[in-house]
Amino acid sequence: MQVVRFGIIGCGLMGREFASAAARWLHLVDIDVRPEIVAVCDSNPDALEWFRRNVPTVTQVTRDYRDLLANDSVDAVYCAVPHNLHEQIYVETINASKHLMGEKPFGIDKRANDAILEAVNSNPNVFVRCSSEFPFVPAMQRLCDMIENDEFGDLIAVNTGFLHSSDLDPNKPINWKRMSAYNGEYGVMGDLGMHACHVPFRAGWIPQNVRAILSNLVPRRPDKQGNLVECDTWDNATLLCEAHHLASNQSFPWTIRLFRIAPGEKNTWYCEVYGIRKCARYSSKNTNALEILDYSKCGEQAWQQIDMGHETAFKTVTGSIFEFGFSDAILQMWAAFVYELVHGKPLKKFAGCVTPQETALSHQLFTAALESYRTGTTVPVVNS
Ligand SMILES: NC(=O)c1ccc[n+]([C@@H]2O[C@H](COP(=O)([O-])OP(=O)(O)OC[C@H]3O[C@@H](n4cnc5c(N)ncnc54)[C@H](O)[C@@H]3O)[C@@H](O)[C@H]2O)c1
Repeated sequence: MQVVRFGIIGCGLMGREFASAAARWLHLVDIDVRPEIVAVCDSNPDALEWFRRNVPTVTQVTRDYRDLLANDSVDAVYCAVPHNLHEQIYVETINASKHLMGEKPFGIDKRANDAILEAVNSNPNVFVRCSSEFPFVPAMQRLCDMIENDEFGDLIAVNTGFLHSSDLDPNKPINWKRMSAYNGEYGVMGDLGMHACHVPFRAGWIPQNVRAILSNLVPRRPDKQGNLVECDTWDNATLLCEAHHLASNQSFPWTIRLFRIAPGEKNTWYCEVYGIRKCARYSSKNTNALEILDYSKCGEQAWQQIDMGHETAFKTVTGSIFEFGFSDAILQMWAAFVYELVHGKPLKKFAGCVTPQETALSHQLFTAALESYRTGTTVPVVNS
């Protein structure tokens, strides 16, 4: 078993998710590589204390990420910090020759993402990926197999999105994710957008142009002291793209909905693909179900609901009939990262983490979406 020694920069919500996945690595059955967390860094001592208590492999605990980057026993870094810090820490990590799993949006804006991509291109021996876990849900792996096997035929339409309702309460106190200085001008697109783009980008469905509607529904929120302060990020974004698939030279509409304020939706990630031969749709609201409509088999327009179990890309000790959850998706994503780092290619096309080039495309899309809303026009994303 090969070991990749990790340092974590940013020991908040996502840093702990990684620690939890690494701690139950024995859940995976035939993988020949495992992560070991040897160093942690956070500016908040309480966040570090959790790691001190819970992760016995940690030998370095620091509040300065440069100490961690200077540590020769660190092979790879997971960086999960607020968006305003992505550029500086990612660039320094890559230039320190540490492999990097970064968090989305991979730079607070397009300029920051360009700087990160420049570091990636200057360090071809460093393996760099961005986190996105939803494609690892078994129903999505099955849907992705259908894309890979060209089962849909010509595409009629694609809809993807991520809907939350966590900001429905206008009295919920503000945090860094609701302030553009830390979260970025993209607002909800920076937070949730990559999740809706990973599968379409990997499929080669490239947005040519976008018309976006952005909403700031709660412009002021209380701070920790109860004073009302400006909440200057976009809560909701609706994007209509004209997508192009180079391999089939075909264009089709792709809608993306990214909502922090979506009544009735706690954490709904969805992907719907409508093709001329078959259609398929998945929603995390009913996470074990994959719906398929196969025109060639059904005389009727009848959707079939397939009950999925634990049919994961990376095999686990869990029996195949048992249901799958968010932390299982995180574990699968980490397996994909270390597998590709060691083997030089993903286990399969849709069992790989987001590439830096895919993050660059997401920045082109979100930057065009901002301009679209500002000007009320359809804005080009890439030149075909
Ligand atoms: N993949 C996902 O599903 C998912 C989910 C949530 C968040 N995220 C992303 O993960 C990243 C972090 O989000 P989070 O929810 O974990 O946030 P968080 O606020 O829970 O954690 C961020 C941590 O970074 C630390 N930090 C801040 N400045 C630092 C510095 N200079 N040096 C070291 N540490 C510093 C904070 O103290 C905090 O502990 C963001 O990019 C976010 O978009 C991804």
